[in-house]
Amino acid sequence: MQQNVSMEQLISLCKRRGFIFPGSEIYGGLANAWDFGPLGVALKNNIKRSWWQTFVEERDDIYGLDAALLMNRKVWQASGHESTFSDPLVECKNCHARVRADILLAEAELNKKGGVATLILPADPETQKELLMNEKIKCPSCDIVDWSSPKQFNLMLKTFLGPAEEEANMVYFRPETAQAIFVDFKQIVDTYAPKLPFGIAQIGKAFRNEITPGNFIFRTREFEQMEIEYFIKDSEKWNEHFEIWLKEMNGWMASIGIDMQKVHNLDVPKEELAHYSKRTVDVEFEFPFGRKELFGLAYRGDFDLQSHQKGSGQKLEYFDEETKERMVPHVIEPSMGVERMMLAILASAFREDPLEATPSEASEQEKRIWLDLPMRMAPYKAAVFPLLSNKPELVEKAQEVRKVLQGSWPGFFPVVFDKSGNIGKRYRRQDEIGTPYCFTVDFQTLEDDTITVRDRDTMKQERIAIAHARAFLEEKMKAR
Ligand code: GLY
Repeated sequence: MQQNVSMEQLISLCKRRGFIFPGSEIYGGLANAWDFGPLGVALKNNIKRSWWQTFVEERDDIYGLDAALLMNRKVWQASGHESTFSDPLVECKNCHARVRADILLAEAELNKKGGVATLILPADPETQKELLMNEKIKCPSCDIVDWSSPKQFNLMLKTFLGPAEEEANMVYFRPETAQAIFVDFKQIVDTYAPKLPFGIAQIGKAFRNEITPGNFIFRTREFEQMEIEYFIKDSEKWNEHFEIWLKEMNGWMASIGIDMQKVHNLDVPKEELAHYSKRTVDVEFEFPFGRKELFGLAYRGDFDLQSHQKGSGQKLEYFDEETKERMVPHVIEPSMGVERMMLAILASAFREDPLEATPSEASEQEKRIWLDLPMRMAPYKAAVFPLLSNKPELVEKAQEVRKVLQGSWPGFFPVVFDKSGNIGKRYRRQDEIGTPYCFTVDFQTLEDDTITVRDRDTMKQERIAIAHARAFLEEKMKAR
């Protein structure tokens, strides 16, 4: 079942149920900073765990890495980020708002003709300014058309190591996790002697001083990436690996609950490719605010290893035992942002039942909102309620049932206990956070050790023995 959801609905649900809060809120907030509450952390961890299991633990050809976030500045000089990782910043001469020229032009094009923006930004800042003026593109803040010439604005955030704030101590917060993979390529090759093709994967925070962050957690200055660099022989057909990775990533996204009908592949035109890429596919998702990039797949050739070979003076090569050849491998890079994936999952899972289809489980008539999350992604796999909160024998029994359902490591399931409010409201709370099953302990439980279990999606209930409850959850976990 596919439904459209607005950003207001998603943001409100995330705040109401403790998925995502505005950062530093009691101090008036910090622009575009978001904090992940108990359920947000749980969902994020589920996404990362599933990615790591699928692409690192279940495979023999991918090695995990967790490198330091702060790296030698020379890394960013060699990679090209210091000189080229920038956006065209334009200033409104009337109100001094600063915006990205490329985004203004792309939005103007979309407003005119719909579909997908195809405009290729001219390299020359004066021509960019002329375009903005000729197209009469208004400032989003004051509606006046009066632009400065765009300037390139580097997106890397800086800080200083040690007490002296001087150039020699300046370091960048990494703008991508990818470079650490190239920098540690030699360590992996020397330690494990892997055979090509093989990959190195990393999950970690990255920072970009975005000029125009926004759309909730879609574009933030601090975010988390899940990246793989998959190294192949220079002589191999990179296009075949590229297609395999596109399929792999799409398969994984479907398994975590992304609505694949809203996913589209966009081959980035040659003129718009990043400085390192020979082919990039932007995999886009129909977010409530429009069709935007969900993740990128890039063929980076041997650009990065060659650059770091030059920058570091170290050999970053692979020796092929069979052909006795030395080579610098080429690389395919699937690169994802955890927060974007989370937003796409939430947008895919959001459901609202029409009033007439909602039975009166809750005390007052209200529309039922629920998250149709795959069980693997749900923050809690089940909830346990005592029918009445003021009957100690029911409360005690429900706590026992919770322990049975949770199990223990390594087969532990997070199960929440809830005794506040009437039972209808408790079901609604769990629906909104995507808990697939609610188990209720009632007076019959005390007599025959059975409980009711209610399904989130169908709202149907059945009665099962406590002795079978854990096996019930395990079966469901395999199936959804
Ligand atoms: N490593 C590619 C990116 O961060 O977009």
